[in-house]
Amino acid sequence: MEKTSTFVSISQYQHLYRNDMKEKINQLLHEISQSVAASVEETEALRIKYLSKKGVIARLFDDFRLVPAEEKKQIGQMLNELKTRAQEHINALRERVQAGAASDAADELDLTRTAYPTRLGTRHPLSLVKQEICDIFARLGFSIADGPEIEDDWHVFSSMNFAEDHPARDMQDTFFIEYRPDVILRTHTSSVQSRVMEKTQPPIRVICPGRTYRNEAISYRAHCFFHQVEALYVDKNVSFADLRQVLLYFAQEMFGPDTKIRLRPSYFPFTEPSAEMDISCNICGGKGCNFCKHTGWVEILGCGMVDPNVLDNCGIDSKVYSGYALGMGIERITNLKYRVKDLRLFSENDLHFLEQFKSVH
Ligand code: DAH
Repeated sequence: MEKTSTFVSISQYQHLYRNDMKEKINQLLHEISQSVAASVEETEALRIKYLSKKGVIARLFDDFRLVPAEEKKQIGQMLNELKTRAQEHINALRERVQAGAASDAADELDLTRTAYPTRLGTRHPLSLVKQEICDIFARLGFSIADGPEIEDDWHVFSSMNFAEDHPARDMQDTFFIEYRPDVILRTHTSSVQSRVMEKTQPPIRVICPGRTYRNEAISYRAHCFFHQVEALYVDKNVSFADLRQVLLYFAQEMFGPDTKIRLRPSYFPFTEPSAEMDISCNICGGKGCNFCKHTGWVEILGCGMVDPNVLDNCGIDSKVYSGYALGMGIERITNLKYRVKDLRLFSENDLHFLEQFKSVH
């Protein structure tokens, strides 16, 4: 009797097991949903306890084979749901402690701490030199004038006394816009001269910095865009001697008080007479070196007395007024001052190059 009373048939056992299983699943659902974690480590401990290969839920899956066939569907679904709920709950706990850690860090923000240094940009060498040129002329009473980079033939060429067949008008030099011969990118800042003279009567004393364009193949010494500064002075009785004195002042301010200047006769359509100015080589001090090709001199700008035709073209009476003009390439001046041998460096945005000008400000 005793034996039979303690005997449990396999079907009875399965029955017991099945009820036990349902109960266990419900119990675990409750237990897991109530579980909390204060740290990432604690969520990991929960994951190991419930969801790892040897965890509580895995063991229930192992026992699943003992569930009687007719119950398998229902208990199988319950088990799957338990696993999903456990994963969701533990993931949610982990996210919460992680977010909490972040907000704790924010709470620890020390508003009295010294600020981290901000990385400042540097001014471009061409901008530095342009500014320096403008400052020197500002001290002589010149003000800044501006004009468009997309220009017309009149302001760039015709008003500036270029003959109809002057080679500078050639397609090879000038960028034309939309194949319209009258709309071009300015090839020099001399175009601003005519813009200013058309609008203003003398005395005129302006300096015009800006970008210019020419259809050149890009190499270490030529680029399709570059920068110039133009200066124009128109008044009564302006003479070549005035021009010469301004040039000397500029050269010595820019390259040092020992700098000498030399004027060589030249030709420009818009000035008569015209000259090119050399300065004593600022590398060898005029003794002769590779840089100045052993001449002791380097060329830096073009200049001259404004051609009377230009004054008349722009509505200024050439019988009453005279003037001088000069124009220089900012890249050229920068090369002389900082020995930048390759023009392309100016437009490549290479920080190794640009950061070298940090201390120049
Ligand atoms: N426009 C000339 C050039 O692009 C430079 C120049 C020369 C400007 C003589 C002047 C000047 O004002 O008088 O090469």
